[in-house]
Amino acid sequence: METKILVIGANGQVGRVLTKALQDRYGIENIIASDLQKGEDSEGVFEVVDAMNIDRIKEVVVKHRITQIYHLAAILSARGEENPLKTWNINVKTWLNVLEVARTEQVKKVFYPSSIAVFGRGASKNNTPNDAYLDPSTVYGISKVDGENWAQYYYLKYGVDVRSIRYPGIIGYQSLPGGGTTDYAVDIYHKAVLNETFTCFLKEDAALPMIFIDDAIRATIEVMEAPAENIKVRTSYNLGGISFSPGEIVAEIRELYPEFKVNYKPDFRQDIAENWPKSIDDSEARMDWSWKPKYDLWSITETMVNKLKKQYELTI
Ligand code: SER
Repeated sequence: METKILVIGANGQVGRVLTKALQDRYGIENIIASDLQKGEDSEGVFEVVDAMNIDRIKEVVVKHRITQIYHLAAILSARGEENPLKTWNINVKTWLNVLEVARTEQVKKVFYPSSIAVFGRGASKNNTPNDAYLDPSTVYGISKVDGENWAQYYYLKYGVDVRSIRYPGIIGYQSLPGGGTTDYAVDIYHKAVLNETFTCFLKEDAALPMIFIDDAIRATIEVMEAPAENIKVRTSYNLGGISFSPGEIVAEIRELYPEFKVNYKPDFRQDIAENWPKSIDDSEARMDWSWKPKYDLWSITETMVNKLKKQYELTI
């Protein structure tokens, strides 16, 4: 059977880049991008889908004979705190809608993005293991723990082949994150290439797990393409990239921009970050589907600066 993939949340930070990567890999006609509205630079097949509406998801799945769904729609950690009940409703309801459609329409594989936000005060902060105690401090984190458990439930009870990874903070030049606690690590590069002062909402020493977008996308496709019997963790896999603090990223950027200025004005996002791991133990992912990140902080910095310089030269 031909692979036909539905991406829900195709306009987001991950969705935009993943849609393009899937188009390159499986053919542009085999990827159905969807979101609340069509993205400005969206290419290929697009459907307007509000994932709160299960009938609409089903309609698109049937129409395009979808065999895989990547469900990327969610409200992230920081924005989620502005309206916890709405965030819970959206994050959990959309996911249950996707799982139900996957079950009734026999969708072969489903991808669910989880996050380092599942960890809270009960988990050790360094090299946090896959099976650490999960007591998240944000509604986003609670919804992701819940989502991971629903993923495993649908796998065990109905045989729906759901696969999931816990993304660290994702750094990329192609798209902007929105409403997350790790967003600073993207914004900082924009400010550096524009020669602007950066105001950081985390403390200088707030280390968090991070990953370059190319590594994150590769991990996503690798976990989805791994043989089913290799996927031993059916809640979600820890995924490691690198780990750094604002102070460390500033030091790297100053190698290229020695005059780069930064102020620290920690806000509520510092409290969120303090409950998250500083670094991640991803040995299960390495063992089960051979995960290995490629980018370190210096290669991320070089790539971000070069790509953003090009982008701004084109548009300014
Ligand atoms: N990067 C996300 C956030 O900061 C975590 O999944 O909310």
